[in-house]
Amino acid sequence: MTDQTITSVSRESRVFKPSAEFKGQANLGSFDNYRKLYSESVNAPEKFWSRQAKEHLVWRKPFKDVLQWKPPFAKWFTGGKLNVSENCLDRHLGTVRENKAAIIFEGEPGDVRTITYKQLHFHVCRLAHVLENSGIKPGDRIAIYMPMIPEAVVAMLASARVGAVHTVIFGGFSPESLKDRINDCKAKLVITADGGWRRGKVVEMKANVDKAIVNTPTVQSVLVVKRCGNEINMTEGRDTWYREAWVGAPNQHSAKAFDSEHPLFILYTSGSTGKPKGVLHTSAGYLLGAKLSSQYVFDLKESDRYFCTADIGWITGHSYVVYGLLSNGSTVFLYEGAPNQPEPDRFWQMIDRHGITILYTAPTAIRAFMRWGDNYVLRHRLDSLRLLGSVGEPINPEAWMWYHRLIGKKKCPIVDTWWQTETGSIMITPLPGVTPTKPGSATLPFFGVCPLVVDSDGKEVPRNSGGKLVITKPWPSMLRTLWGDDERYQKAYYSEFPNHPEYYFTGDGARRDKDGYFWVIGRIDDVLNVSGHRIGTAEVESALVSHPSVAEAAAVGRPDELKGQALVVFVTVKSGVEANDGLKEILRNHVGKEIGSLAKPDQVRFAAGLPKTRSGKIMRRLLKELAAGGEIKGDTTTLEDFSVLAALKQNDE
Ligand code: WTA
Repeated sequence: MTDQTITSVSRESRVFKPSAEFKGQANLGSFDNYRKLYSESVNAPEKFWSRQAKEHLVWRKPFKDVLQWKPPFAKWFTGGKLNVSENCLDRHLGTVRENKAAIIFEGEPGDVRTITYKQLHFHVCRLAHVLENSGIKPGDRIAIYMPMIPEAVVAMLASARVGAVHTVIFGGFSPESLKDRINDCKAKLVITADGGWRRGKVVEMKANVDKAIVNTPTVQSVLVVKRCGNEINMTEGRDTWYREAWVGAPNQHSAKAFDSEHPLFILYTSGSTGKPKGVLHTSAGYLLGAKLSSQYVFDLKESDRYFCTADIGWITGHSYVVYGLLSNGSTVFLYEGAPNQPEPDRFWQMIDRHGITILYTAPTAIRAFMRWGDNYVLRHRLDSLRLLGSVGEPINPEAWMWYHRLIGKKKCPIVDTWWQTETGSIMITPLPGVTPTKPGSATLPFFGVCPLVVDSDGKEVPRNSGGKLVITKPWPSMLRTLWGDDERYQKAYYSEFPNHPEYYFTGDGARRDKDGYFWVIGRIDDVLNVSGHRIGTAEVESALVSHPSVAEAAAVGRPDELKGQALVVFVTVKSGVEANDGLKEILRNHVGKEIGSLAKPDQVRFAAGLPKTRSGKIMRRLLKELAAGGEIKGDTTTLEDFSVLAALKQNDE
């Protein structure tokens, strides 16, 4: 895609200044403080990060070097040793936080549990023993496929405690996707649940695991949490009930210290080729990024009750449900189910019930609430809220204003936070009470972050023109590589600008306005953002062509009011196959089965042929324009066969 296609049309000009009241209590105090600290963080990064790392993390052995940077490979805080789980739990014991709620959980059926830091520590210690007894060694991979229940958090922390590497796989992924991820990282153990509640029904998680691990030779055992009580199969010698394993385990666990760069987790995310990318995060730098950003971006106070609506299967759940918040000793509210179960006011009900003070959610959810109607909101007081956050995709100004008026009652600052699975922690964001906000802009970089909007040569573009968003310097919570594939890591993130091999390419397009504010426009690579979830077009295409009726397929996004982007697929069928509505449904379900329901196409369109360049590349740009219902305006000079395009237009539904 050429730079000329990155145009940004938004010219939103409203500015919201922080209220004096919020400002008076903000952790950072003033915009001047932000400027000073930011400038130190980018001009003297080693000094800045060394101080932060000493102040925020509990070290068993002090680090020697702050950063070793041989692009694209970074090592942070080398020589240091620590234990991530100790940094989230043990540090709070013996302090006033010991008996503070770490987790307040509400299940979809309405069951509530509160777990204090001391209790969480106890659960994690016990599970750490269970893991070690089942033969887990530091560096071994553990797959976690669970509903949003406290045991999911316990599983992550216990894995970190014993130095294992967890890979959390979102519960909405199909057995097929689960299998691929387990095989890619060669997980030894799977931790799952019998099921999880979603819209009043049981999602059969253990049954999915059973299907997946028929073809995963590395998995030796499966640990199963009883959540729903649905009937499941337990395979003798392989499957154990969590509760049974847990009962005999000791209550204390003396954690080993691991190197700063010891792998902490792998999280699979979509890239522009078919295979998901195993983003690797390591220990100290990641934890520091998550902790520091949580403290400042959410302006955390001891009395906060924080609710992030993201599932732990996503990076937001890792950094801003588990690691960033627990390391700060905060109270995290965890909700298992759907936002509209039993009614579309479930979130607002829970906010009042539990006195939630901070809400962090996604634009797609906000737009759904807008559609469900204001009355569901107006029934509730929501007066405990003091801060709102948004993540996952650009928030359209209309949704921003609704969030501001209806949920924030015009008094809560909104932090629109831009970041990625790869960045580990929030990169561009307002600081509440400090940064004036503009609806739709993620505003300014967080400490230590050097973003730039550049053209194809890596040269900064003039203010207000669109370009590619890059990060020019390394940061502590950056991904370290793609699991087992250094070459793909370099190619995917550090090859876009050959004369700047140290520039990290985000895959996003952006614009910077006259005040230096960043406006992220969206993805410019072959990745879609559907309801805040990244879906690789190539993954969907390879799922489609794996169906016996399909000859060729192309997946593109079209703007969608609710989901941000909707997934449209163009399919050519094999000769002799009848392209009818029944087949459309079959193909939608096929993609759902292959990848998971989140990737089910919104629209399937049959085509006699797909537009291709003379070298045989599918011209997705043209299909995108077609899918959006528009005229083909772009350049078609490289198109091989014009009749294909004419036929596609006629086929328009
Ligand atoms: C998009 C989610 C605009 C962006 C944390 C990015 C955003 C991708 C924002 C990463 C935002 C996320 N404004 N766009 N505030 N937040 N994005 O890896 O395209 O699931 O590259 O991480 O979401 O998605 P991921």
